Amino acid sequence: MTLSFTFNICLTRKSGILIALLSFFVSGVFAQNQKKITIPVETLHNALVLQKDDGGRLGIIYFGTKLNSPSEYDFIPSMYKRGDDYSGILNAAYTPSGSRNLVEPAIEVIHSDGNTSLDLQYVSHNWQQTDENVSTLSILLRDPKYAFEVTLFYKVYFKEDVIEQWSVIKNLEKGVVTLHKYASANLYLSAENYYLKHYHGDWAKEMRPEESRLTAGIKVLDSKLGTRANLYQPPTFMVSLDKAATEDEGKVLLGSLEWSGNFKIDLEVDPLNNLRIIAGINPFASEYALQPAQEFTSPAFLFTFSDKGKGNASRNLHRWARKYRILDGNGSRLTLLNNWEATYFDFNENKLAELIRDTKKLGVDMFLLDDGWFGNKYPRNDDHAGLGDWKENVKKLPSGIGYLVKEAQKNEVKFGIWVEPEMVNPPSELYEKHPDWVIRQPGRPEHLYRNQHVLDLSNPQVQDFVFGVLDNILVKNPDVAFFKWDCNAVIYNAYSAYLQKQSHLYVEYVRGLYKVLEKLRAKYPKLPMMLCSGGGGRVDYAALKYFTEFWLSDNTDPLERVFIQWEYSYFYPAIAHCNHVTDWGKQPVKYRTDVAMMGKLGFDIVVSKLDEKDLKFCQQAVLNYKSLNDVIWHGDLYRLADPRENEFASLMFVNEGQDKVVMFNYLVGNRYAEGSKSPVKLKGLNPEKKYKVREVNLYPDTKSTLDENAVYSGNYLMTVGINPDVRSSRTSVVLELTALP
Ligand code: GLA
Repeated sequence: MTLSFTFNICLTRKSGILIALLSFFVSGVFAQNQKKITIPVETLHNALVLQKDDGGRLGIIYFGTKLNSPSEYDFIPSMYKRGDDYSGILNAAYTPSGSRNLVEPAIEVIHSDGNTSLDLQYVSHNWQQTDENVSTLSILLRDPKYAFEVTLFYKVYFKEDVIEQWSVIKNLEKGVVTLHKYASANLYLSAENYYLKHYHGDWAKEMRPEESRLTAGIKVLDSKLGTRANLYQPPTFMVSLDKAATEDEGKVLLGSLEWSGNFKIDLEVDPLNNLRIIAGINPFASEYALQPAQEFTSPAFLFTFSDKGKGNASRNLHRWARKYRILDGNGSRLTLLNNWEATYFDFNENKLAELIRDTKKLGVDMFLLDDGWFGNKYPRNDDHAGLGDWKENVKKLPSGIGYLVKEAQKNEVKFGIWVEPEMVNPPSELYEKHPDWVIRQPGRPEHLYRNQHVLDLSNPQVQDFVFGVLDNILVKNPDVAFFKWDCNAVIYNAYSAYLQKQSHLYVEYVRGLYKVLEKLRAKYPKLPMMLCSGGGGRVDYAALKYFTEFWLSDNTDPLERVFIQWEYSYFYPAIAHCNHVTDWGKQPVKYRTDVAMMGKLGFDIVVSKLDEKDLKFCQQAVLNYKSLNDVIWHGDLYRLADPRENEFASLMFVNEGQDKVVMFNYLVGNRYAEGSKSPVKLKGLNPEKKYKVREVNLYPDTKSTLDENAVYSGNYLMTVGINPDVRSSRTSVVLELTALP
């Protein structure tokens, strides 16, 4: 290739007309794929730079901090002397399998004639601007030998430094093409070292982090559980470049797959010491038969990158999530009293009416009725029976939900209710009537999880049924103000009586779920809804489009919660975190409440059993929360002292105007004389402003040990800091900082 052949075109997202013209020029006139084309996908601070090489293949030549001059991206590839990759496509933007590729593919297919090879060559690309901040790049790739296309999409949220990436795979052959792998995204990063922080866990042990250096080979994060897919690990992770990033320093990518089912994320340190990240639906037991003219749209892989540490990356993600994804992400939330741990299945109308009065007494916005209110032939008196029979149990609730809604109205609180519509207990009328709606292998012994099966949401009749569970409640009781949507079981014995092709089940299940949620949101666009899955078994940014919040874990021991909430907070903003004060743990009610306050506050306790002081404390805390929630829900989160590295945890929220701050501090160690021995430096303040500090959530008859008359400059608070005086006699401390006018 001589210089005269090489024609580099550098396009930025801003030069829309030029892009359109050149795309046409490239695809229409000179489709010989002989010119290099560089396509920077830029956000406010970062760039993912794609390049079509002179052989027509699309690769990634740069990922990281944006350069001032986009034309300089072209210099980058020649600066790396890491050796030969023997394929020329190690950096592929979407690695096809079976042609020249030698490593983990992003896509693997069997063509209609049985051939297993795929090559993908650049055809054209196009930018579409949604508004000032959002634009989408699409790049069409085509196999030169087979009528088979893949379009890569990169949706750019400029100010938030966030990109969503997905693929649309199209079969234009005459026969069926089988997809064996069909990833959403394929990234290529160059650094000296890579540090992966990922999470594992189980029920009540969600979000346990591990961070380690990636070594040569492939590390896989995945789920094969079908529903409740995050039980063992979530599709969220971080990768630091060069060295493990800290809260405020270092280069780090935060990624998450937007899919509520099986996922697979391959992290491959390749022979040239580059990192290939391939994320998508888990192809495990899920080969997909693509009919002629049919398209397969993969879910989006979401990522953000920061060269200023994990804190900045997470704040970008929070801003994105509140503005663009979580239902009513910038709105408000209902504080509540839940009866799950207060009563479990043991309640009746009178007991609930009492709890509704307690809701009012506590001062929260809503009473949430949990599991156990339904089932007649097979009453739901424990978790063995009744799931699927969504009619009020006449013994427990002879006057129905309507009566409870009215009781709530009388007490000027709202009423919410628990459902688990995707599931069925074998002892149930639903199971008797519709055995074919149940996911299970014919001819094999049943295997249950929490005594229940998963319904086959790939079946449109089941989709209608699931929609109907909520719709019927709302049609009869339009004043029901909230749903807690649970999903407790995993899929065993995956088999659908409805589907022709069994290997489609895991994919079609999730698509069926989204169809139901779409329909629900079309009819009830605003109704707040909590996403729950036996704790945090299902939370991701596809589901959160339909939900206002999620249940992080059934583990509500406040000490555990400090750690669980801390880790979730990297990926999901506080407005979406449902935290309840319960009787788990040995800590006093103040500690439990202070911990629950760092997200959306709720209670699940027997209010009538609180002694006078505890009740007074809780009532005051609810009032305090009302005046602080704007900062917690909509402000920026700064993590100040990591509970895994200190004897205490410290974090703060600051509003956009930098004049209101809430700082939470929790003792997590219990050895002698542990506590906050030095001042904790605040972040994100205005150095010029003067702040008054007030301790809130003080337990009745106690006084703050802080000097509440002092006024500190933002500069002082960020340089020296303030000591919240956390110690064994002050295990949790909540501070409110207000800027002087
Ligand atoms: C799951 C949820 C709990 C509760 C129970 C009810 O475990 O996570 O909060 O709703 O189901 O059965």
